[in-house]
Parts: sequence; structure tokens; C-alpha cells
Amino acid sequence: MNPVRSVLLAASENRWLRANATRLPVFRKAVKRFMPGERLEDALGAAEALAREESVATIFTRLGENVAEMAEADAVAAHYLEAYDAIGQRHLDTQISIKLTQLGLDIDSRRCRDHVRALAAHAAQQGSILWIDMEQHTYVDATLELYHAVLAEHRNVGVCLQAYLYRTERDLQAIIDAGGGVRLVKGAYKEPASVAYPKKADVDASYLSLARTMIGAEARAKNFQAVFGTHDVTIIDAIQQHARSTGVPADGYEFALLYGIQRAVQQQLSRDGYRLRVLISYGDYWFPWYMRRLAERPANVLFVAKTMLR
Ligand code: FDA
Repeated sequence: MNPVRSVLLAASENRWLRANATRLPVFRKAVKRFMPGERLEDALGAAEALAREESVATIFTRLGENVAEMAEADAVAAHYLEAYDAIGQRHLDTQISIKLTQLGLDIDSRRCRDHVRALAAHAAQQGSILWIDMEQHTYVDATLELYHAVLAEHRNVGVCLQAYLYRTERDLQAIIDAGGGVRLVKGAYKEPASVAYPKKADVDASYLSLARTMIGAEARAKNFQAVFGTHDVTIIDAIQQHARSTGVPADGYEFALLYGIQRAVQQQLSRDGYRLRVLISYGDYWFPWYMRRLAERPANVLFVAKTMLR
């Protein structure tokens, strides 16, 4: 792994930095590039602007992971229920993506599942899909177990799968068989070579191979929801070409990109008539997430350094 990436991912797991770095003005200023603000209201404002100016749909996620007490998880679930109401009142085409460790997966998996059920039911009332993020590899089994249980009751739930894990082909097949939905990403965590491809070229090859399966005849026959969460233009082009050459219509799949990243690509996808969603993060627990964004493109560190010097 690139040493800068390695240091940034290690920083993302540092407790002291998590607790203190978000107060430093330099980080507060630099993070604005990826996040419209810490409050739900900031995310709603950004989603309204994207809808109005570019006809782009959105996904919200409130940053946070691994809560220490179930009361915090209950508060997160209550927050998302309020967020659905605010989204409905503003007539936004905005989905929600949740992290299970933020909803108490580590503490009480049954209550966590109940929260997900309630959120899925709320999403269904708005004709929306509820998405579940994927965290470190140690959570994949528990996340997929919960996902399949909720999918059996609510068809409008999808889960993120990571192309860097060796196991993902198998996990994807199980979700296709169940007629669910997957947002495919490369994977953002520091993972050992025993579970994940260490080389970027292998991750990219895995991504493309999984993407082809996601828009293949079997998946489409099952009404499977295919979402590609990537900023990689080579991969985006390859998916579009494969779809065209195999007769998959442009509305048969969706792209999802993060707020503030590859803006020109986002605008181009929207202009070309592809289905696109922009994922907007908000909340005050942004340090680990921000370190993962820096790690994805170490040139971003230069941006922080410049902000420091200014
Ligand atoms: P790659 O890292 O190869 O980047 C391709 C190009 O995009 C780069 O060369 C650069 O130009 C640009 N780029 C990418 N990241 C950038 C950044 N941070 N700043 C500036 N430019 C950047 N991961 C996970 O483990 N679990 C999850 O649930 C999710 N959820 C999720 C949802 C959505 C909608 C997206 C887009 C991504 C995620 N991810 C995620 C993150 C994902 O795993 C991955 O770390 C990032 O998307 C970066 O990988 P790319 O596919 O963009 O390719």
C-alpha cells in the first residue's frame, strides 16, 4: 500500500485525533471541500441546490460509526426518521445511507435490526431505497446477515459491497439471487492482504468484473438494483460501454459519486442522461471519514497543506 495512504488510514483510526482534530481550524476549513456543513440543514440546502441547478438526486449520510451506548444509536435512528420527514417536506429525491455500527450493531444487534426495519418502512412510504454502508471486513458477515433479514421483509433496501475483498463475488451472487440491490465501491478501509487485494490494479479488475455481473442478464431478470459508487472515469466508461454493447439501457443502472469529488464528471454524467446520485455527508464526527477521503487521493494532502499556509 502507498505509504501516505497507509499513514492517513492509520490516522483515521486514532482515537485522540478523532476527538480533537475536528476543532482545528485548518481541518475545519479543508473539509468544506467534501462536506457542505455539519447540520442536516446544510445537507438539505446542498441537495436543493443540486436538484434545482443540475437536476441531480442525492443520498444523505450522517457521519459517525461505532457508538459506545445504545442510547446514541437510538438517537441516530430518531435523527434519520426526522431527516426523512424533512426530505419529504421539501420534495427532494434524496435517499439515506446508514452505517450499522452507528445504529448499535456492536452493542445490541437485535435493536440495530429493529432500527433498520423502521427506517426501511419509512423509506418505503416515500418510495425511497434505504442503503446500508459497508465498514471494515470484520463487519461484513453481520452486515450481510442483517441485510438479508431486512430484505426478506422490505424490498427497498440495498447494501454496499467492496470490490477489494476476495469474498465479494460470492456475496454479490447471494444478493442477486435474493433480488436485492448493491452499491459497488472499491473499499475505503485499511485491510490485510489475507482478505483484500493489496494492489490497486487488482481492485480495479475486480470492480469491473463485479460490475458486469451486476448488469448481466441474471441480475436484470431478478430486478436487482445496480449502483456504481466510483469516481474512476476509466471504470465509468467501461461500464457504459459494456452496458451499450450488451443492450442494457442507460436507466438500468445508476452512478453515485461523493459530494465535491470529480464535479466535472458528475455534470457530464447528468448532461449525458445517466442516472446519478451525489452522496452528501454531514455531522460533526467527520475526522475518520475525512482521513479516508484524503487517503483516496494523497494529492488532497497538498490541498490541506496549502490551506494551512494561507
Ligand atoms: P479511485 O480511488 O481509483 O479514484 C479514481 C479517481 O477519482 C482518482 O484518480 C481521483 O481523480 C478521483 N478521486 C477519488 N477519490 C477522491 C478524493 N477523495 N478526492 C479527490 N479526488 C478523488 N467505501 C466503503 O468502504 N464503504 C462504503 O459504504 C462506501 N460508500 C461509498 C458511497 C459512494 C457513493 C462512493 C462514491 C464511495 C463510497 N465508498 C465507500 C468509498 C470507496 O470505497 C472508495 O474509497 C472511493 O470511492 C474512492 O475510490 P474510486 O472508486 O473513486 O476510485
